[in-house]
Amino acid sequence: MSDYKHLISAALASRENAHAAYSNFRVGAALRANSGRIFGGCNVENATYGLTVCAERVAIFKAISEGERGFDAIAVVTDANTLTPPCGACRQIIWEFCGDVEVILANLKGNTETYRMSALFPKPFDSSNL
Ligand code: THU
Repeated sequence: MSDYKHLISAALASRENAHAAYSNFRVGAALRANSGRIFGGCNVENATYGLTVCAERVAIFKAISEGERGFDAIAVVTDANTLTPPCGACRQIIWEFCGDVEVILANLKGNTETYRMSALFPKPFDSSNL
């Protein structure tokens, strides 16, 4: 887990920037590229609730839009006792760009759990189905 300390810290730092004015549920994510670069993201809510974007997708789209490809881990941090897994939409996007990476869940108390994406998203629809 110490391998992921830096990634969790980055997710914690991004969480500080969450715009969670409607749910008050602040989420931070951090995505690690094979290059070593880390991309943070936070949830960005909107008065039109459905336009909200999750922290994981913000981090991934930041990385992709900067030309980064190839990732090995993504961390998700909230203040929940039951650690927060990526939502269904985020699982689809994580699979698209990251494949079977490690997903590290953490909270502010320092609890952590690690899953492979293939465990969280066992039968994906992806380019292999087209
Ligand atoms: N949210 C995330 O950012 N990531 C998750 O993995 C779960 C949910 C956000 C979306 C919304 O802003 C708030 O948490 C409540 O659903």
